[in-house]
Formats: sequence, structure tokens, C-alpha cells
Amino acid sequence: MRLVLLGPPGAGKGTQASAIVKKYNIPHISTGDIFRYNIKMNTELGKKAKTYMDKGLLVPDELVVSIVKDRLIKDDCKDGFLLDGFPRTVDQAEALDEELDKMSLKLDKVVNIEVEKDILIERAIGRRICKNCGATYHIKFNPSKKEGICDTCGEELYQRDDDKVDTVEKRIEVYHKQTKPLIDYYAEKGLLLNVDGTKSIEELFNVIVKSLEGES
Ligand code: AP5
Ligand code: MG
Repeated sequence: MRLVLLGPPGAGKGTQASAIVKKYNIPHISTGDIFRYNIKMNTELGKKAKTYMDKGLLVPDELVVSIVKDRLIKDDCKDGFLLDGFPRTVDQAEALDEELDKMSLKLDKVVNIEVEKDILIERAIGRRICKNCGATYHIKFNPSKKEGICDTCGEELYQRDDDKVDTVEKRIEVYHKQTKPLIDYYAEKGLLLNVDGTKSIEELFNVIVKSLEGES
């Protein structure tokens, strides 16, 4: 299964990605997570990416595309992968198509998670992430059992630097300008699967799996 998860900031891409990759046993490739890891490790890439991410802007295509290309040729991608947050511009989508062509591969589906702005903001500002294992929670919609502590590994939870209201609003604006055109791009290729992201986490996961397996 070769999948792309598309959707605005806070739509639930990462949350659904975690469940989907577990079910289909494919790697979860999140460009946002790759950048956050590089920021944590204080690499040159991390330092560059942070200047864009803190402002809610996209990291330039040339930095993102090479990272994804390098990742897709790794052995664990040979039976499939899930791209979360990539592509995010038409140029990135074209670069991905070129790369897959070279490998004689095709995407199976692009799952587009649709959620309106008010809910996106509430989801993003209430999000909490485990410092250690990256598990994602929400203070209201998906709280950890013990406040501020990860259910899975017992480490502390933190709030992303770009999950402040102003930055989230900027990210949503950037999504509309630069990423939304991908909906038409993939619809024209017959790959688009629109799903209602306002459903609960479990309901949405069931809808996605059923659709991927051709049951609805
Ligand atoms: P990235 O990390 O990809 O962030 P994003 O696309 O803005 O999306 P989010 O991670 O904020 O949201 P999500 O859809 O994953 O939602 P989640 O599942 O966590 O990118 C960050 C930055 O990196 C970008 O701004 C850019 O600078 C840079 N970048 C990354 N990729 C790039 C690229 N390709 N090109 C250029 N720059 C790039 O859920 C959100 C919250 O809601 C959680 O708390 C969750 O528990 C809760 N929730 C989830 N689903 C539900 C539900 N169904 N009901 C209720 N609550 C829910
Ligand atoms: Mg995410």
C-alpha cells in the first residue's frame, strides 16, 4: 500500500497515520516529524527548518524533496509507505511522481482529511506530544490517563512550538494557498479519497480502512 495523507494542520493526519501504518505494516514518513527530530538534534537541517516552521511557513521544496527521495529508496519502503504531510506543494507532488516513475511505482490512494478551521485550531492548540516516543494526545479529545504524562512510556508531554493560535492560523492560511491545490491535482489522477475528519478518531480510522479495502 502506497499512501499519501493530505489535510490541513491539525486535521488528524498523524493520528490516523499511526493506526494505518500499524494495520498495514508500512513505514510512516512524516516530513514534520523528520524536521522536529533534526531540530531536537540541532543539525544544520534542523536549524534551517526551524526558521520557517516557527513562522508557520513551509520549508523550501529543495530541502524537503531530497529528504523524501532518500527515504523512499530505503529497504523498508519496498512493500509500501505512508507519506504524512508530504507533498505539500504542486512542485513537491511532481517531484514525487517523477521519483516513483523512476522506481516504476505508483501511489494507491491519497486520503484527504477534511476539517473546518475552528475545529483545526482547537485540535492544534490542545495537542500534546510525548517527548520520548512521540505519541500524540489532546487535552480534551484524546487525553492521557495522567495529565502531562504519556500512557505508553511514562515520559512528559509537551506542546509543539508551532501550536500557538497565531502560528496555527498562519499554517492554515499557508495550507489554503500552497497545499489545497493538491486536492485537484490528485482528483484528476483518480487517486483522491475525501474523508470527513470531524468523526471520532476510531470512526474515521474505520472509514479509511473500509474505503482503502474497497468496501464503500
Ligand atoms: P507537520 O508536522 O506536518 O504539521 P501539519 O501538517 O501542520 O499538521 P499537524 O501535524 O499539525 O496536524 P495533523 O494533521 O498531523 O494532526 P494530528 O493527528 O496531530 O508540519 C509542521 C511544519 O513542518 C510545517 O508547518 C512546515 O513548516 C514543515 N513541513 C512539514 N512538511 C513539509 C513539507 N512537505 N514541505 C514544506 N514544509 C514542511 O491531530 C491534531 C490534534 O487533534 C491531536 O491532539 C489529536 O489528538 C487530535 N485529533 C486527531 N484526530 C482527531 C479526531 N478525529 N477527533 C478529535 N481530535 C482529534
Ligand atoms: Mg502531524
